[in-house]
Amino acid sequence: MTKAHNESVRVMFVCLGNICRSPMAEAVFRHTVKESGLADCIEVDSSGTGAYHVGEPPHSETRQILREHGIEYTHAAQVVTAEHFEHFDYLVAMDRDNLAHLQRMSHNGDATLSLLLDYAPDERKRDVPDPYYIGNFVEVYDLVLRGSRGLLEHILAERQLDGATKTR
Ligand code: 4NP
Repeated sequence: MTKAHNESVRVMFVCLGNICRSPMAEAVFRHTVKESGLADCIEVDSSGTGAYHVGEPPHSETRQILREHGIEYTHAAQVVTAEHFEHFDYLVAMDRDNLAHLQRMSHNGDATLSLLLDYAPDERKRDVPDPYYIGNFVEVYDLVLRGSRGLLEHILAERQLDGATKTR
């Protein structure tokens, strides 16, 4: 069902630890939404499939790259729960392992489950690589940015919302 224009669309990004990729995606997507004048219409959050870092702030390199791009952000890591499936309209996984985890948890068809890079059609990669051990945060930022822009365009079209999107 299509929601009314001023009704909230709710988006949650999901990775493994909720300290590197999904908090970066949350911050970048929220920034993009704000630039488009839709901050009141789109709620954004992030979580992880693993509980290793619950309560921790984002990884220092995630915070650094966000700072470099002028994006303010605070977050405490949390685990994805059954309640999140009720609350959020879109659960957007950073990689196929995260998506498989979400698919195993899903008991009804309410939330749309997808991969972030589904929304970056020019990108051959399907997974945003896990930077925790190999540290490729610059590549992760680039993929997150492109996926976030495509995701917003997708939501605007699907929900018939108008945004002054600065996506180019
Ligand atoms: P993230 O990265 O899923 O992008 O937050 C990771 C963070 C922590 C771990 C793995 C990936 N870990 O194994 O603790």
